[in-house]
Amino acid sequence: MMTLRKMVMHGAAMVLGAGLFLSPAVAQDAPAASDAPVTTNTPGVDVPTPVDVPPAPTVDPQVQRGEYLARMGNCVSCHTVHGNEPFAGGLPFKTPYMFLGTMYSTNITPDEETGIGTWSEADFVKAMHTGEGPSGPLYPAFPYTSFTKVTDDDVKAIYAYLRTVKPVKYEPPSNSFIFVVARFGMKIWNAMFLEEGRFVADSSQSEEWNRGAYLVNGLGHCSACHTPRNLLLAEKSTEHLWGAVVPDVVLEGEYRPWFAVNLTQSKQGGLGAWSVDDIKRYLKTGHNKFAGTFGPMNEVIANSLSHMTEEDAKAMAVYLKSLPPAPESEPMQITEEETKAGEALYLKHCEECHAKTGRGGFMKAPPVAGSAIAQGRDPASLINIILYGAEPAKGLNPPGAWESMRSFRDRMTDEEIAAVANYVRSSWKNGGSKMTPQDVAKQR
Ligand code: HEC
Ligand code: HEC
Ligand code: HEC
Repeated sequence: MMTLRKMVMHGAAMVLGAGLFLSPAVAQDAPAASDAPVTTNTPGVDVPTPVDVPPAPTVDPQVQRGEYLARMGNCVSCHTVHGNEPFAGGLPFKTPYMFLGTMYSTNITPDEETGIGTWSEADFVKAMHTGEGPSGPLYPAFPYTSFTKVTDDDVKAIYAYLRTVKPVKYEPPSNSFIFVVARFGMKIWNAMFLEEGRFVADSSQSEEWNRGAYLVNGLGHCSACHTPRNLLLAEKSTEHLWGAVVPDVVLEGEYRPWFAVNLTQSKQGGLGAWSVDDIKRYLKTGHNKFAGTFGPMNEVIANSLSHMTEEDAKAMAVYLKSLPPAPESEPMQITEEETKAGEALYLKHCEECHAKTGRGGFMKAPPVAGSAIAQGRDPASLINIILYGAEPAKGLNPPGAWESMRSFRDRMTDEEIAAVANYVRSSWKNGGSKMTPQDVAKQR
């Protein structure tokens, strides 16, 4: 978590920017425009260290609840620059349309001049529910499209907690010109895409399921990364949590697309093989027998999900376990020769830890057979992990967690990486589209 890592795409901002100020052709030419979006986080070499959040004074139960809920919303990851005061803002967000420049998160400490010290509780509730601040509309890089589902009570508790954090006089850098002028356009975007309204419980489901749905789709804002977006960067509600491409940092200052995996119950490419307990364990500790955290999930887990109560982690898992499977990844057409070449590379570079069977090894590495990362509808995360390696967030190393995986950027060519990745995506009943050396070159 160093400098410039937040590439929002989220900023439907720039889409509007693109729509209002540029020709639509430009918008379509931009990389991964339709499927892309939001962003946050770090990975690779510069592994985030969890941010120390100021504890709530113990006297007031509402403030205490607010501290917990602010964790669930992961406010701190987006509103803190590493090394600065928590919640003081100033974290840069970029869009894949790099020419649009940078937007910065705001100071949400109670400082009256530079923070939100003059905001009333009602102002705060309105911003969280409608994306409308006292001085105008906000960009959905701030995930109010999810926060709109959060109850008034919970939003008020977060407000009460934020009133107790130390006011910090700090003015984040100014947004680039386009973000200054395109703000008014968000009203149109909201009218088209914001489904304003609180979470409605499903009475045919258990209380636990409803709690999980409330957290995943409200404060947890998982869909901000895991749901594909349309051309105007609104989440596609018919493809809820099907997996999506999000631009993010791989090394300090270097952005690449990542694939935030399919979180539904698809057997191929999704979490179909994970039990409720497996999901819960991953969310709460950052690892389970199938996978470990790295990349953009590092901050989500370190700063947010690892602080969940056991009950809330289980509730999230119960809800995710109920998601109907998205379409499965297709088996790949690959020649015998290609398989042989891929296998040789796998035996040379990967077998040592992931085993010939693809099942991984105890204390060594998680399985690649059945892996959602390996079988992603988009191979972006698989390419990143091979090029840049994988490292769990610091401070998140409970007993039994996977160690880190080395980078192969200097050890393998684009052709070799594509060949080994195709081998992994077509072996042991894995599925996934075929990749080319050009796909790898784009992410190197
Ligand atoms: C994914 C990143 C992200 C997360 C998570 C996030 N925010 Fe933000 N937030 C932003 C960005 C970026 C802005 C600036 C938006 C703009 O300028 O239009 C912002 C703006 C705001 C504003 C408006 C402040 C102002 O001065 O106008 C408030 C209030 C706010 N966030 C509160 C929160 C709270 C509370 C949470 C946690 C429950 C939270 N945010 C979580 C990115 C995030
Ligand atoms: C900032 C974007 C972002 C947010 C927010 C986010 N994720 Fe992820 N998630 C990713 C990416 C990218 C990956 C794949 C690469 C990685 O592990 O970092 C991923 C991977 C995962 C995995 C699969 C791991 C595997 O190895 O198969 C699970 C499970 C998961 N996320 C659950 C969640 C849940 C639940 C939430 C909401 C509470 C959430 N994520 C929020 C970006 C995000
Ligand atoms: C020295 C041991 C080692 C080697 C060699 C190695 N890996 Fe890994 N791999 C790991 C570890 C450890 C993880 C888990 C990292 C984490 O969770 O942060 C991992 C994770 C992965 C994952 C993500 C699995 C998931 O679903 O979460 C994939 C895919 C992967 N490796 C592919 C490969 C490929 C392909 C190669 C060969 C080019 C390779 N690995 C070589 C140790 C290794």
